[in-house]
Amino acid sequence: MADTSDCPARWLDVGARQFDPWRVTPIRHRVHEHSLLALNKVIALGTRLEDRCQVRTHSDTAAAGTPFNDAPRLHPNRKTAVDTLSDIEHAAAWMSLLNIQTDPEYQSLVDTVLDDVKPTVERLDPGMSYRAGWIFVTSPRAVTPFHMDKEHNFILQIMGRKRLYVWQPDDTVAVSEAARDLFHARHNRDLIKWRDELRERALVFDLEPGRGAYMPSTSPHLVENGDGPSVTASFTYYTDATRRNSLLHAVNHRLRSAGLDPPPIGSRPMRDAPLYAGVRTVLGVKSLVRRAIGRQAVSPTARYAMHQFS
Ligand SMILES: [Fe+2]
Repeated sequence: MADTSDCPARWLDVGARQFDPWRVTPIRHRVHEHSLLALNKVIALGTRLEDRCQVRTHSDTAAAGTPFNDAPRLHPNRKTAVDTLSDIEHAAAWMSLLNIQTDPEYQSLVDTVLDDVKPTVERLDPGMSYRAGWIFVTSPRAVTPFHMDKEHNFILQIMGRKRLYVWQPDDTVAVSEAARDLFHARHNRDLIKWRDELRERALVFDLEPGRGAYMPSTSPHLVENGDGPSVTASFTYYTDATRRNSLLHAVNHRLRSAGLDPPPIGSRPMRDAPLYAGVRTVLGVKSLVRRAIGRQAVSPTARYAMHQFS
């Protein structure tokens, strides 16, 4: 793992010499010092985002194996955002403020952090787009169920302590190739199944303010909060490579649905490259047709992510 023993002068230090866009890496940062992440500011943001349905929450009864997509329904937290965030120590809840980049004040925070790492990231992993930010406010011992996301993710601890379990993005024991294909094709996490023995193969990070981790796209993860309340922020993005991977996995899902057994993405570069070129051509034509008939096409190459639940 990267040596990040020197506290960075920048907001975020990715360890330029060791950074590998497809490896989980520990991170040092000082984003917890940013004024927009003071708890009173986060509470005010939560109130604004709740009015726009940009809050996701569940109670502290959700567990590692709770289906991530269904946690809010299976373990509801009925308190408002302001009530939850104002007394998070006793709220018995997990709350995520979604797509904070849609708030003008917090869009500047997302840019501050991602602009800081962009020179290092772009050198190895060009095409940064779809920038987004997320703030997680968590009661003591609440759990974020086992899951994965499409974006590359800098997850940074702001207040309190939590334990983060992460599996490498190519760990097909933790999450099978078929589960990855389904996830990319339909944003469906039904085949992502928690087993307690997976803890033994995880990278474990004991997070506190100033510490965090880089989690490449589709690195499975699980978060267990410590004995006190905590605040964590994530800063996420797509790149040319994440978009390519996502499309190829979606194609493989279609092939599986047709009864075929496609090779894992990355195992046959000579097959992946022309396949990707062909799919991009087809999608480009579809996008042109959509525009021609006046329908908006959502572009994953936009600078900022659109609001969506994930
Ligand atoms: Fe996540």
